Parts: sequence; C-alpha cells; structure tokens
Amino acid sequence: MAEKVVLAYSGGLDTSVAVKWIKEKYGMDIIAVTADVGAEKDLEAARQKALKVGAIKAVVVDARETFVNEFVFPALQADAIYQGVYPLATALSRPLIARLLVEVARQEGATAVAHGCTGKGNDQVRFDVVTAALGPDLAVIAPAREWGMTREETIAYARRSRIPVPVTVASPYSVDINLWGRSIECGVLEDPWTAPPEDIYIWTVSPGDAPDKPQYVEIGFEKGLPVSLNRKRLGGVKLIEQLTRLAGANGVGRIDHIEDRLVGIKSREIYEAPAATVLFAAHKALEAMTLSREQMRFKQNVAEEYASLIYNGLWFSSFHRDLRAYVQSTQRYVTGTVRVRLFKGNCTVVGRKSPFSLYQHKLATYDVGDQFDQSASPGFIQLYGLPVRVQSQVQPETKDIG
Ligand code: ARG
Repeated sequence: MAEKVVLAYSGGLDTSVAVKWIKEKYGMDIIAVTADVGAEKDLEAARQKALKVGAIKAVVVDARETFVNEFVFPALQADAIYQGVYPLATALSRPLIARLLVEVARQEGATAVAHGCTGKGNDQVRFDVVTAALGPDLAVIAPAREWGMTREETIAYARRSRIPVPVTVASPYSVDINLWGRSIECGVLEDPWTAPPEDIYIWTVSPGDAPDKPQYVEIGFEKGLPVSLNRKRLGGVKLIEQLTRLAGANGVGRIDHIEDRLVGIKSREIYEAPAATVLFAAHKALEAMTLSREQMRFKQNVAEEYASLIYNGLWFSSFHRDLRAYVQSTQRYVTGTVRVRLFKGNCTVVGRKSPFSLYQHKLATYDVGDQFDQSASPGFIQLYGLPVRVQSQVQPETKDIG
C-alpha cells in the first residue's frame, strides 16, 4: 500500500500541480485538505477539483470560528501588528492550517504533510515549524520549493497533466485571503515606486470615491474581545464580516509596506484589512482608558514580541504560552464601547467609555469640580527633578545635548 500524505489544498494551480507531482515523484496517495478561513470562494468546487486531479480523498473543513476565536482574537488582544502596519492575516492562518494537516494525518495514518509554499517566503517556515512542534515524526513535502519550476513551466506541466488552467491564472498577483485580511504580492507591485493599481483591491473603495459623509460605528468589547457592532451583539465571524463591509465602503484598511521576511528578504506587500484596522484602533483606545501607564508601556513591548512570534512561525511555542498568559491577564477590565469615525480612508476613534475607566473627570477637568490638588505638585516635582538638578551641577556637560 502506498504511503499517504496530507496536502494543504487551495484549489489553485500550484497545489493542483502539487497533487500530480507528489504522486509522480514520491508515489504517495494524496489526501487534500482545504481549510475554510473565510477565503470567499467555492470550496466544494475546490474539493471536486482535488479529486479530479488525482487526490484519493478531499475534505473541506469550516475553520472560520476556530480561526477567529483561537487565532485572530488573541492576536487582537495582544495588539499584535507586525512592523507597525501588518495585521498578520496570512501569518495567523498558517498555524491553524498546519495543525489541521497534522490532525488529518493522524486520522488517516499518513506519514507526511505537504504544502504549496515556495522556498522564499515566511509561509514555508510557519508550516514546517508548526509541523515540527505538533507532529515531529511527520515528513514535510513542499513541491514548489523542491521542483524549481518557473511560472511558465508550472503551467506547461499542468497542461501536460490535464489539469485545468483557469483564465484567472493570467492574474499577475499572488493573493492570500481570509477573514482578517487580504495579502497581495507580485506583478507590478514588485516595483516599490509603483502605486498599487486599483484592481488589486476588492473589499475597499478608493478613499477618493468614498462617501462625502462620515459614518460612525460603535464597537463593544468585553475583556478585550469585540462582542457587538452598533449595539448589536454578534459572533466574531459575523462581526468581522460586517465591519469589513462598513469600513471597506469608506476606503478604510489599505496598507502598502516594505516588509522584512524571516528569510532576510525585504518585500513589497499590499494588504487590505478593513475590519482589522478598525478593531485594532478601537481596542487600543479602550486599553488607553482602562490600563495603567505601566501596563500600557510594558504591553507595547509585549505586542512587538507577540507580532514577531506570529510572523516568524512560533505560534506553538512556550514563548507564546508565556506571553499569552500576560496578555490575558491585562484584558480583565478592557470592557466598554468605542466610537469610531470612518471617513474617506481614515479610521479615527472619536469616543470611548468603560465601567472600569481610569479616566476621572474630577481629576482631569480645568472647570469647576476640580479635585486635583495643585499645591502637591511643587513637592512632587522637587523630588522628581532632584537627580537632574544634582547631575547638572556635578557634571556640567550634561546640558550640552549637541
Ligand atoms: N508577507 C505576508 C506574510 O508573510 C503575506 C504573504 C502572503 N502570501 C501570498 N501569497 N500573497 O504573512
């Protein structure tokens, strides 16, 4: 009996060619697994195609709830944004898909998993490292990394093997889509000086074409998790879907960035992530109201580390467990409502309220009702400024900043 391999199958050209290629090269039986993380395409058609191109079995797994609750929302609570701009949509889906491959491999008694990643990107690292963590005995086959075919050769191989080559293969872009965002690369985007053409965007209107009237949305949070949109309670998947539409209609969520890949390459990446853009802004605004100064400062460092570990494929690591515990603890009082204005590509927080707000009007106000004791300030400043006073006397060049 042939050995079995579980392949992460998207329905696209590369993973279809991979089915044939693995069969020819390794003589293995292929089980195709397609995870639904909100890619908005006909996954039953993908499943049928997998069988048609030669998989012995093909399954589609609806992983949207899991994706949002176990991967996206913890990243939101951590404020995990890579290099200040990338909401990590693709990066967050990889550990989920890789875990699924390992699970199916166990059920089916497979000896290997396979994915369609090239040898130049981050995704290969994420798949391989998660497999190393969850199924260290499993081999990993990465046809696109091994075969060294150009785009043209892949298409020729497909034609020879009677794999349907869709017209859309003419699309010069490489796109990855899930509920949290779209990632777009290749084609003219590889010139960092070239502005992204309009046709790469699907969820967002051009900010210039957005409505001339601002639109307001209210996001309700409980313990750092978004639970309502405009006062309507919604599950995570629905909330993200609806917010994607609202924010996208106002041109919010386009990101154009030169990014540092783990393998050392700088690459030009375009992202479209309307819901993530709004939710990160709203979540951070609520934290500013409910966390102390020290919590805020330390959590910012944690956010940076958290984003890096997600980006670099370390989801299933002790480092993540440890950071997760800290982040969860910080979210106990991150409950309340944030009001956001969406207007011509901008997302601006214009209001926030919380039953656990640390903002005290009686301390902040310059009007009547002020209870802040201004006479206590000179003494405080006296001590706070003491080391500066001493140092500037003893070491006079302290003042020469240059
Ligand atoms: N650079 C992003 C990341 O590493 C996105 C990669 C998306 N892949 C794609 N085929 N467009 O997470």
